[in-house]
Amino acid sequence: MAHTVGQALAAQAVSCANAGSPLYGTLLEGLGVDHAAGGITAELLEGVSDRPVHDAIPLRYLATAHRLALSGAAPSLAAQYPSCGGRWSAADDLTAAFLGTVAGNRNEFVAGLRRNVQTNEVGRAAVLASGFAWIGARYGLPTDQLEVGSSAGILSRWDHFAYDTGANRCGDPSSALRFDPAWWCDSTTDGRSAALPDLAAVRPVVRRRASDISPVDIITEAGRTTMASFVWPDQMARLERLRTAMQIAATSPLDLQRADAGAWLASELANGTAAGAVTVVFHSIVWQYLPTTTRDALSTALMVAGERATERNPLCWLRMEPAAATHADLRVTCWPGGETVHLADVGYHGTDIRWLAPPT
Ligand SMILES: C[S@@+](CC[C@H](N)C(=O)[O-])C[C@H]1O[C@@H](n2cnc3c(N)ncnc32)[C@H](O)[C@@H]1O
Repeated sequence: MAHTVGQALAAQAVSCANAGSPLYGTLLEGLGVDHAAGGITAELLEGVSDRPVHDAIPLRYLATAHRLALSGAAPSLAAQYPSCGGRWSAADDLTAAFLGTVAGNRNEFVAGLRRNVQTNEVGRAAVLASGFAWIGARYGLPTDQLEVGSSAGILSRWDHFAYDTGANRCGDPSSALRFDPAWWCDSTTDGRSAALPDLAAVRPVVRRRASDISPVDIITEAGRTTMASFVWPDQMARLERLRTAMQIAATSPLDLQRADAGAWLASELANGTAAGAVTVVFHSIVWQYLPTTTRDALSTALMVAGERATERNPLCWLRMEPAAATHADLRVTCWPGGETVHLADVGYHGTDIRWLAPPT
């Protein structure tokens, strides 16, 4: 069913309020009123997309304003956005300040409404590190890793962060970005007791490659502001994690290619893998964005490389992808053999890891 822009604004208001952004929840209600009255919100948002919910048009609108606020061009919003050092309380109505910013920066909004929303969720690193630990325990080999749909490449640097389940640890113990035991749950979604991954089994990364159809270069100020603009301004914990991860990225270079996931993976795997290492292809919350041709090319590239894999040079496909409305899951397929193991359930932003894998 096709949705209208008004429905997209209303749905996004509910979803932001439920997902921990009361600031955006109430602001979107105000923008919905402006839209219904035929104001500048209607003028700019109508006609941008025939799928305003799917294309997250309200979030593009909000991110454009956030970007201006972060870069100093929207002082009235910055004064109330916590991400910019401002103060906001539930009694504050930001609609007038927002609409004033839109009116004063019309061209930026016209352009911003045509840019995809692109996040790189740092919190997903903890479940991915748990998956790499399982692979380390299974093969005992160093890792040759390839990430598709990497966005800004933050998760490709997962081993530069510190992880502690309370029972074991991995990563860089001196890292400024730390994942403490609260990220792992002690029970499954159906109430059974959950184990913890053995993080100590993580093996070193000997080569890392990454790609995205639209990569963001966070070595530049503009790239960092772009990434921050897509985080909701009252979600300070996520923003702090992102900022810390971006600082770490500045000192850990990454070969991040602009490429379609299927074509890139086929070409990289055809060029061979590191000898004596396990090749790990991984992604998180990417599959739903890939066209069928890309999914097919990616699957074929994995099957072809899987046929060449040996116990001394295995191949793993590790992915965190949607499982239900409430959570995603982490699965791994291993070659030789092609067996798939359900490793964990996890919240969409990486919290509430419920470890399910039997010990290797
Ligand atoms: C929701 S983001 C997830 C980013 C990152 N994996 C994370 O977990 O934070 C989806 C990513 O897939 C990328 N993407 C979409 N279509 C793609 C394609 N055909 N090939 C490669 N990347 C693609 C987008 O540019 C975006 O960075």
